Amino acid sequence: MADEKQMHRMSAEFQRMVDDFFAIQCRYSAAMREIQTKLEILDDEFQMRHRRNPIHHMQSRLKSIQSMMEKLQRKQFAVSMESAVENLYDIAGIRVICSYVQDVYTVAELLTSQDDVKLVHKRDYIRHPKPNGYRSLHLIVEIPVFLQEGRIMVPVEVQIRTIAMDFWASLEHSLRYKADGAVPEEICSELQQVGEDIAALDEKMQAIHDRIDAAVARNLPKEKDFLP
Ligand code: GTP
Ligand code: MG
Repeated sequence: MADEKQMHRMSAEFQRMVDDFFAIQCRYSAAMREIQTKLEILDDEFQMRHRRNPIHHMQSRLKSIQSMMEKLQRKQFAVSMESAVENLYDIAGIRVICSYVQDVYTVAELLTSQDDVKLVHKRDYIRHPKPNGYRSLHLIVEIPVFLQEGRIMVPVEVQIRTIAMDFWASLEHSLRYKADGAVPEEICSELQQVGEDIAALDEKMQAIHDRIDAAVARNLPKEKDFLP
């Protein structure tokens, strides 16, 4: 009998956890879509003004329950949904892949200067790459989500980087995964060197882009002259 009672309590607890998870997922999904829409609008307006898109493509994801639990354990926080909401800022994540380095900073500036977007944290791994060679601009932004019970601010992690930085990060991630985290030292330093080479290529592509832009601007009337 006691077992049956215990089973009943456990099942009710489990149901509550599942309900909490879906309620939370719903908020983070809303926040993520809001930020993604803002970025799409910025990209469209930039295209209209400058005849090119600063955003090459975007990816978004919600953290799975397993990966939330794994991160809470790794960071030595309590493992619960309340703790996840309090301590994890990357439950909702958007990766923005830009064509040029300057676009990374332009997109970040245009997004964070909107008055309903609050910049909570910024880590510039482009100006200050990680020792392993990882490069990217990371923002944690908060955005209001309107629920039946009122307005809440929900954090979203936005990682912004160039196609070249993304190429490095994706391959490094899968190599590290394949090697089960134990990448030999000499390969680590080769990867770090490849990161440097990629940063040099990004700089060259930016310089070529700027020269072509300047040449086009000398020969053509500026588009913004035609805007109302
Ligand atoms: P996580 O616990 O991994 O989320 O790290 P964190 O919350 O301490 O923040 P950090 O800025 O170090 O990393 C956030 C995210 O950036 C990671 O989840 C990855 O998506 C990406 N990232 C950070 N460092 C690396 C790296 O060395 N290689 C790759 N491929 N991605 C990285
Ligand atoms: Mg993360």
